[in-house]
Amino acid sequence: MIDNQQTTLVTGVAGFIGFHIARSLLENGNRVIGIDNLNAYYDVSLKKARLEQIISHRNCTFYHEDINNLDALKRIFSNHHIDKICNLAAQAGVRYSIQDPFAYQESNIKGFLTILEMARQFPVDNFVFASSSSVYGDSEKLPFMVEDNIATPISLYGATKRSNELIAYSYSHLFNIPLTGLRYFTVYGPWGRPDMALFLFTRSILAGQPIDIYNFGKMRRDFTYIDDIVDGTISALNTPFRFEIFNLGNSEAVDLMELIGIIEEELGTEARKNFLPLQPGDISETYADIEKTRKMLGFNPKTSIRTGIKKFLDWYRDYYHVA
Ligand SMILES: NC(=O)c1ccc[n+]([C@@H]2O[C@H](COP(=O)([O-])OP(=O)(O)OC[C@H]3O[C@@H](n4cnc5c(N)ncnc54)[C@H](O)[C@@H]3O)[C@@H](O)[C@H]2O)c1
Repeated sequence: MIDNQQTTLVTGVAGFIGFHIARSLLENGNRVIGIDNLNAYYDVSLKKARLEQIISHRNCTFYHEDINNLDALKRIFSNHHIDKICNLAAQAGVRYSIQDPFAYQESNIKGFLTILEMARQFPVDNFVFASSSSVYGDSEKLPFMVEDNIATPISLYGATKRSNELIAYSYSHLFNIPLTGLRYFTVYGPWGRPDMALFLFTRSILAGQPIDIYNFGKMRRDFTYIDDIVDGTISALNTPFRFEIFNLGNSEAVDLMELIGIIEEELGTEARKNFLPLQPGDISETYADIEKTRKMLGFNPKTSIRTGIKKFLDWYRDYYHVA
């Protein structure tokens, strides 16, 4: 038993990022209390498979719960001494927020407030939450800086994430809760999310089906490899601030057609391409300025896009038994 063993509540622990963070915390001798409602936004068996990797660990306790369930949360906080909160549970995805807006209100606004209320009633040493590059809307000022005056998210998803930052600021001010928001930039890697471009492209190319390429391919994204995101998030958990926001991006905008080219090369197959207009709510370019994150969190993303894609494809082939 490690003397200074800390307990971190990770919400959304069966999700892509939550699972990786929980695994890293456990590997480093911490205790993890994980919560996830295992919703069916995407393949639940993938969420369960991620969970299987961590729940047998003796320092991991999992609750199949919704972050809106106030009574259940009160029980969890009463039964465990929680040192830190990492709130990742949310309805993710820009495009789906047009289809099912209330899912975003439920998990991203009400659920977030419920977790903040827990931190108010059961004080913690630090509270880190996931924000998103979507808060920048279609700002033409690049790279995106935390200091930019942003007030025009162009999707409900982006608006809920910006709301989280504003609500968090008020809770930090009113109740002295140390709060840090992390604006993640297009995270990818093993155990990734099936609704995201790299996953969708890989699946379709391997199945010989055409891939949908929006804005006729004129998109640039700051793709950030999951291990770098884990490093930045753990660093934020270990560095409490009264209130801060950070960009967690690779700080390199990659052309969408370049991404597709690398996948094609690595799979040895040319994709059938279906060029389409920009989708409502989508941003054509994201690019993070990470100077503040480097200085204050020692954040230093190391993974090149080709290395990251190779690692994703290795995992994909293994997980889905692709020859
Ligand atoms: N992956 C990215 O590129 C990216 C980029 C920007 C921000 N984010 C944010 O990072 C966080 C994690 O994203 P992810 O990619 O791991 O997504 P994910 O969908 O894989 O993980 C989210 C998890 O939260 C759970 N969840 C959702 N609503 C819940 C609720 N009400 N109660 C309990 N559990 C709930 C889901 O079942 C899921 O397992 C999210 O807040 C997301 O908005 C992700």
